[in-house]
This record gives sequence, C-alpha cells and structure tokens, in this order.
Amino acid sequence: MARVQRRYACQLCGSVASKWQGQCVDCGEWNTLVEEAGGVVTPFAAKHDLRAGGRAITLSGLDADVALPPRLATGIAELDRALGGGLVAGSATLIGGDPGIGKSTLLLQAAARLASAGTRVAYISGEEAADQVRLRARRMGLGHAPVQLATATSVRDILTTLDTGAPPALLIIDSIQTMHSDLIDGAPGTVSQVRASAQELIRYAKERGTALVLVGHVTKDGTIAGPRVLEHMVDTVMAFEGERSHQYRILRAVKNRFGGTDEIGVFAMATQGLEEVANPSALFLTQRGEAISGAIVFPAMEGTRPVLVEIQALVVRLASGATPRRAVVGWDSGRLAMILAVLEARCGLSFSTCEVYLNVSGGYRIADPGADLAVAAALVSALAERPLSADAVAFGEVALSGEVRGVAHGALRLKEAAKLGFGRALLPAAMREDGGALTLNGFTTVGALVDHLLGR
Ligand code: TYD
Ligand code: MG
Repeated sequence: MARVQRRYACQLCGSVASKWQGQCVDCGEWNTLVEEAGGVVTPFAAKHDLRAGGRAITLSGLDADVALPPRLATGIAELDRALGGGLVAGSATLIGGDPGIGKSTLLLQAAARLASAGTRVAYISGEEAADQVRLRARRMGLGHAPVQLATATSVRDILTTLDTGAPPALLIIDSIQTMHSDLIDGAPGTVSQVRASAQELIRYAKERGTALVLVGHVTKDGTIAGPRVLEHMVDTVMAFEGERSHQYRILRAVKNRFGGTDEIGVFAMATQGLEEVANPSALFLTQRGEAISGAIVFPAMEGTRPVLVEIQALVVRLASGATPRRAVVGWDSGRLAMILAVLEARCGLSFSTCEVYLNVSGGYRIADPGADLAVAAALVSALAERPLSADAVAFGEVALSGEVRGVAHGALRLKEAAKLGFGRALLPAAMREDGGALTLNGFTTVGALVDHLLGR
C-alpha cells in the first residue's frame, strides 16, 4: 500500500521540509513554505515506477528543421541590437533597472513606434495613472500613436480584457511587482505574487504568440526584486543601467534564449525621451575631452558584463621630506601600493617623494584584478606627464615579478571597447584575442609597458 507523505517546499529556494514552518530553514525567508500538491509516494510503493504507461515522445537530431522564431523589430535600432534583432513573438522579456533610469520611457517609445507602424500594442501600467502616461507620451511627441493603454494591476482583469479581442503582438506590463493574481494570497510585489502573476502572463503570451515585456524593479544589490525564479521563467533578461547623474544609459542582455548576451544598446536621456546613440564613443569621449596625462579607460567586468570606466591618476612631487599621501577612490589601496612597488622595483621609477591619488570615474568600485595594467599605465603617464592616447583602453593583471598576466573575458572587453569607439588596447601579450577593429599592443612585463609609454 503506497503511503502518502506530506511535503512542504519553499517557493523561493526550493528546499523541502516534512512539516510546515513559518520560516524556511535554508534561505531564511518567511511564509514561503507551501504544501506540495499530491504529496509524495514513499519507496514502499516503488513497484509502480515511472518506466511504463507513458506516452512515447519523438527523439530527433539537432539538425531537424526548425523555423526561426518570428521577430518583432521595434525600429529602435539600439534596442533591437541589444535584444539580438528584436522581440520574439510568444516570448517573455524582463527589463530591470533602477527607478528613474528610463524603463517606462524606453518601452513607451517602443510601443508608440510599433503601434504607429500598425502593430497591436497593449501597454498596462500598474504604477502610473493612464493620464500620466498620456501626458508623458504627448510631451515626447508620441501622443497620436494608437497604443492600447490602461492602468490595471489585476492579472485576471488584464487577461479577461485581452481575451475579448485579437491578442496584441506586444504586451507591456509596467511593472511585474505591481501585478496581483487572485489565485493566491499576498500583497503585490511578494515573491509568490510576482511569480504567480508572471506565470499567468507568460502562459498567455506563449499561447497567443504575444511578445511579453515585463518591467522589473531592481533592489539595492542590483538584482531584480522578487524571486530569482522570475529570471528563470522568462526567455530574455535585459538590464537598463547608467548613472542617473549622467545622461547615457546602457541596455544589455543578461540572458537571452534567442540571441547572444554580448551586445549592448546605448541611449541618452534627453528632453524628448531616450535618444539612440549610434556612436557612443562620441558621448563617452566628449566627456573625457582631450588626452590628459594620468587617465586611461579600463574595460572592467561586472560579473559577466563589461563596463568601461576611466582610471585617473595624479602624481604630485613633494619638495619637502614630508610623508607622501596615497589616496584611492574606487579601488583597493593595498593593490595600489603593490603596483607602485612593482613600478619602483622592476622598472626603476620612483614615487617615494610623490603624493599619489587614484580615482575611478563615475563612482564605480572596481574589484576586477584586470585593472592592474590600466592603473600602471595611468601612474606612469601621470609621473612622466605624458598623456596616453585618448582612444586606448588597458587591462591585464600585474604579478609581483612584474609579469603581465592574462585575465578572463578578453574578447568581451575588446568587443565592448570597440563598440564604444576605442581604437587601441594595451593588454597582456599572452592573451591572443581577436581585436577586430582594435589595434592590440601586447606586453609580457610592466617594464615593456613603461618602455612603450615613455618611448624608450
Ligand atoms: P522613467 O521612464 O519613468 O523611469 P523608470 O520607469 O525606469 O522608473 O524615467 C524617468 C526619468 O527620466 C525621470 O527622472 C525624468 C527623465 N526623463 C527625461 O529626462 N526626459 C524625458 O523625456 C522623459 C520622459 C523622462
Ligand atoms: Mg517606470
């Protein structure tokens, strides 16, 4: 006789408990344990295993014919590029980003562009009143686009309404954290609500061939609020980022089941919404201005994503014998001391009577060891008061021996630098990367870098 056992699974981390508890013992989250439907059959019943009685499925090779999924190009080239050619019909895309970064603006522009071209687009806002969205659209000159707009937070209301007509080709939900499913308890924004609402919306999108775009809020630590599982449920995860004090915004794919994740889209926030930046280097380099000594761009990696930051060094010679200061913003001061020691011991440069300041632009904090070579280049340039070429980037790890060592993701860093308009990269000689349009200068030791920079 099969014995049915009760089992409770945490809806956040998936850990299983034999009795209900208020708090999951594994992830520490509260009220996430839910009884698994049907319970579990214990091994006493193992006689009835799963090896018979099912339907036969067809197994076929990887070369079987498949049609490419139809793409819905938004006409916003930077957005389409980041998406890998446009939104995919019947797929779900999650766009995450800090509040005020421009997610609603970007999606409203995409919606208006598609609607004006004759595509059925529904834009459901759970955060802003419909009139607020209308006013914004009017301000951006998009007031006449035939977007189907509504304010709603009930997933049942939304799906009931959509089911009365032909399905939209694009459905935008702004944001998933405001949506509510009445199938389960809990306030909008809770783990289970976000998950249940997303599940229903994704099911609708798959059944109707609608391209679904969900806006997701981002928490302080940069992850999309709500269950991690949301990222697993959707086909594509895009991150919209930028410094709010700066006007440029970068859209990148974090996950893409229909394309690569190494393309980015660059925008600038203007008075009429987001403008595409076809040549981002122009924007980035105008902010940098003329080549000055002590500044170089470092293609950093944030997780698996490249981010270009400028590293600035200032070296001030002291007349007196006072102890020179070393100040660092955005990098590790121990690491700076190490690079200075290597430059002194292996390359014969002297910083001992100089104050050294190191700054990473844009308030970034770099943890990536690949910054060593860029820091060394900035220091040498600052000491010698020789500007580095303004279109150069540098990356590589420096060992205590003075050797320059390879770092991960060389190809991604180079690709990002090329995309942002740089023309030259200083990198470890051991990294045999394809630079594409970039001129590559490989170095085996810091000494070779110093010789190169000082024209020795
Ligand atoms: P929004 O799209 O509402 O951000 P999100 O949905 O990601 O929270 O963008 C809001 C910000 O963008 C707001 O601070 C003002 C700015 N903005 C402009 O500078 N110009 C514009 O034309 C628009 C529409 C917004
Ligand atoms: Mg918004």
